[in-house]
Amino acid sequence: MTTATDKDRVLIFDTTLRDGEQSPGATMTHDEKLEIAELLDDMGVDIIEAGFPIASEGDFRAVSEIAERSKNSTICGLARANFKDIDRCAEAVRKSARPRIHTFIGTSPLHRAIPNLSMDEMAEKIHDTVTHARNLVDNVQWSPMDATRTEWDYLCRVIEIAIKAGATTINIPDTVGYTAPVESADLIKRLIETVPGADDVIFATHCHNDLGMATANALAAVAGGARQIECTINGLGERAGNTALEEVVMALKVRNDIMPFHTGIDTQKIMHISRRVSTVSGFVVQPNKAIVGKNAFAHESGIHQDGMLKNKETFEIMRPEDVGLSGTSLPLGKHSGRAALRDKLAQLGYEIGDNQLKDLFVRFKELADRKKEVFDDDIVALMRVGEGGE
Ligand code: KIV
Ligand code: ZN
Repeated sequence: MTTATDKDRVLIFDTTLRDGEQSPGATMTHDEKLEIAELLDDMGVDIIEAGFPIASEGDFRAVSEIAERSKNSTICGLARANFKDIDRCAEAVRKSARPRIHTFIGTSPLHRAIPNLSMDEMAEKIHDTVTHARNLVDNVQWSPMDATRTEWDYLCRVIEIAIKAGATTINIPDTVGYTAPVESADLIKRLIETVPGADDVIFATHCHNDLGMATANALAAVAGGARQIECTINGLGERAGNTALEEVVMALKVRNDIMPFHTGIDTQKIMHISRRVSTVSGFVVQPNKAIVGKNAFAHESGIHQDGMLKNKETFEIMRPEDVGLSGTSLPLGKHSGRAALRDKLAQLGYEIGDNQLKDLFVRFKELADRKKEVFDDDIVALMRVGEGGE
């Protein structure tokens, strides 16, 4: 078994049930949360952030029950930087075999202004709350919210305080999706080089997708030394969402030649959980979404379909089976060619000669010009007409 001490092992921290659910309109029922947590546990997610226990009675119940039921994953709850939140969180994760408290406070100038705390007052609060959390559980994650817009010196100072107070994971949130890959890698690298005690903790990356860079930023952070990626299924999350679990996991798998890191995720379980999260959250996955979109392994154009029928590597960089699909799909449409039509006919049990195919192909194109997609039933109907049927 790989462990967190393995230097190339990247821990996957899934926050679908916390940051994902914070997406307006994505609320899930208690039973739906239990189902998703079970799927996450089963697919090899290292840490499940199951909710924000102080937020509601329902969140508390969900985190408690997930903590009690989960078999392999560490179960984590979120808490603001106050004792009441932290106590409630500790109570919720108590029944987990591996409980974690994740406590956070906004450290950037904009966020410090909200509770109107001076830098020194906030530093003291961080010391007190992390110490308190660590007295309750052995596994404490601390996050300086809006880290990527926090002054460098202050960020180093507060991280050092959190480590000394007992934090075991330091998460660096890009709360508003503001950073870019070069900066993301450099920030983590410099923090690890600079902050005393950094070698004794795991650095995590938590990216939002406001500029469409959440996956790239998370992977860059790993290159910089982060060994925990925070992410959600389908990239569900506040505003433009979070780093998508399926994207970072498959990127590390497919491009292991240049990113030599590994996760513990069973990638064949990706498609099923993606569909379940989409259904229970009500958030439809866009067809061209990387990895889990309906078209991610579909090829309509004649050139692509012909290539795919000869050698799948011509237009696919990963096997659909590796994400839990039964195979590539070659939907028939107006861009399709004869090779795909012949292949479809064979699948439907028809063997026809070149002349019949030529004739059918003309009628197929006429139909395809009128329809977005030509389905199996359409092909059967075309064959029947050609054979003089009804
Ligand atoms: O985006 C963010 O900063 C968060 C924190 C609570 C970690 O979700
Ligand atoms: Zn977030």
